[in-house]
Amino acid sequence: MSLRKILTQGDPALAKQCRPVEKFDQKLHWLLDDLKETLANAGGVGLAAPQVGILRRAVVVEDENERMIELVNPVIVSQEGEQDGWEGCLSVPNQYGWVRRPNVVTVRAQDRDGNFFEVTGEELVARCFCHELEHLDGHLFVEHTDELYSPEEIDAMEAEEEDEAKKRPRRKEKRK
Ligand code: NI
Repeated sequence: MSLRKILTQGDPALAKQCRPVEKFDQKLHWLLDDLKETLANAGGVGLAAPQVGILRRAVVVEDENERMIELVNPVIVSQEGEQDGWEGCLSVPNQYGWVRRPNVVTVRAQDRDGNFFEVTGEELVARCFCHELEHLDGHLFVEHTDELYSPEEIDAMEAEEEDEAKKRPRRKEKRK
């Protein structure tokens, strides 16, 4: 296993349509192992093959128990509900956007040996399924939002909101 370099926004590989995986061979196993190692090293929750320059339909996603799921040729077969939340990407460092996603997502995929399976994710895992699968079609999460913020800007906004929330009951009391 080895760490691979994560490409960043602007690299042409991130805008390409990826081809299906056809051979479930040692080369695929190495790719999946490297994706997992690279993801763990970067401290992210999902990584797609094109982010390391491989234009094949393979991703890894961390589930709610911090186990990594390998998804080869994944497709979304059902989705339910809505969630709004901050989303980021290892290929768009230090930039986060407020993005609406389905709240529950079921994916059908193959494992590293070609066996089909289905997996359902909720909340962050569902968000991650959507995000990673979009990478396979050359799309980035930034297409879902007009505004991107740094972590410091988000902290400042949330602190301001908390202050506002604290002020509200006091204002009401004054009115009485
Ligand atoms: Ni990403």
